[in-house]
Amino acid sequence: MAKRTIKRYPDPFLRKRSEEVNEIDDSLQELISDMFSAMEEERGIGLAAPQVGVAKRVIVISVEDRKFSRLALINPVIVHLSGETDMMEEGCLSLPGVNADVERSIEAVVRGTTKNGRLVEISAKGLLARALQHEIDHLDGILFIDRLNPKERKSIAKELEELDRQYASLTSS
Ligand code: CO
Repeated sequence: MAKRTIKRYPDPFLRKRSEEVNEIDDSLQELISDMFSAMEEERGIGLAAPQVGVAKRVIVISVEDRKFSRLALINPVIVHLSGETDMMEEGCLSLPGVNADVERSIEAVVRGTTKNGRLVEISAKGLLARALQHEIDHLDGILFIDRLNPKERKSIAKELEELDRQYASLTSS
């Protein structure tokens, strides 16, 4: 069992802007390890700290990639996005049952710090580039549903209403 519960839409915590991390201490290492556990338990490919109720700029990603199969980044910043984009279906552990096509840049260059305190710059393509954009969005309170075109947005209206209902019944009891 993961120790951290994943917050679900429309929890307002997911809309907060997360704070920069100033120190890589034991509690941060524990957070990262818990985030990997929570993500893997739910079979996700990425998770951001605010999704487990911690408003810090930390993300973890696990995608099939030659170099970065299990990546944790602290204070990640996008330094470049390709003009070329594509559409691909996304989901999010904070929005169970919701999937829609999102347009994003095919390539992304991201700078950040590893959990060992090493500054890195990652040139990502494809799924890794997409996951980085999705997770870094979380740190600014942005969800993938904010980036949908009107047609895609309409296609998930029912599912969002259902999550609204579940959240309302959870918070009223
Ligand atoms: Co997400």
